[in-house]
Amino acid sequence: MGKDVIIALDFESKEKALGFLDNFSGEPKKPYVKIGMELYYAAGPDIVREIKARGHQIFLDLKLHDIPNTVKKAMSVLSGLDVDMLNLHAAGTKAMMEAALEGVTRPDGSRPLVIAVTQLTSTSQERMESDLLIHEPIDQVVLHYARCARDAGLDGIVCSPLEAGKVHEACGKQFLTVTPGVRFADGDVGDQVRVTTPEKAREIGSDYIVVGRPVTQAADPVAAYRRCVAEFVG
Ligand code: C5P
Repeated sequence: MGKDVIIALDFESKEKALGFLDNFSGEPKKPYVKIGMELYYAAGPDIVREIKARGHQIFLDLKLHDIPNTVKKAMSVLSGLDVDMLNLHAAGTKAMMEAALEGVTRPDGSRPLVIAVTQLTSTSQERMESDLLIHEPIDQVVLHYARCARDAGLDGIVCSPLEAGKVHEACGKQFLTVTPGVRFADGDVGDQVRVTTPEKAREIGSDYIVVGRPVTQAADPVAAYRRCVAEFVG
């Protein structure tokens, strides 16, 4: 599986997202992009079709979590949009993840990659214990969810680049780590807490880095994207 940089298209409207992507119209390889809930709920499935038609690969970050049958059917619809990567919450259980894989598989046998969210990075040990009644150390909980996702047949998880090595040790080299929380060594950290550079993420073993503001807010987004690719992919 080739390493790649995924740009987080965190824009609130179709116009802003497409306006940003216009910067890349002259690039031979269109960047892989992540469409999250904000843009998808604002612009609907047409935004996915339009960006796909421009030649981008798409990670549709909608984090599904419902009963297995509902997730199976929703995954089938999303797979029909011809996206390349989808995700769901591992907390939905192995049964839900297995149902998702059934739903996502297209009639010709192909399917997008499916990765799991484990514990959100916004959840602290304290909150997990008080609100979710989970009393194991959070890093063990993350690895347990990762193994459940692997056992269900999923392709990988979203995690911090700093955890990518441990996830590969627990689940195997082929199990993908898709990692946000990436900043240039000389860049703004913003509201991210545990960050690392594209180069360090490569060393630890991330398979895909997800980069938002360091590219979307850059004075020269194409130069910033190229710098990410050069540092991460080499
Ligand atoms: O702008 P920035 O590089 O911080 O964007 C990172 C992207 O990755 C955002 O879309 C954010 O929602 C997402 N993300 C994250 N941390 C997680 C999971 C997702 O930053 N644990």
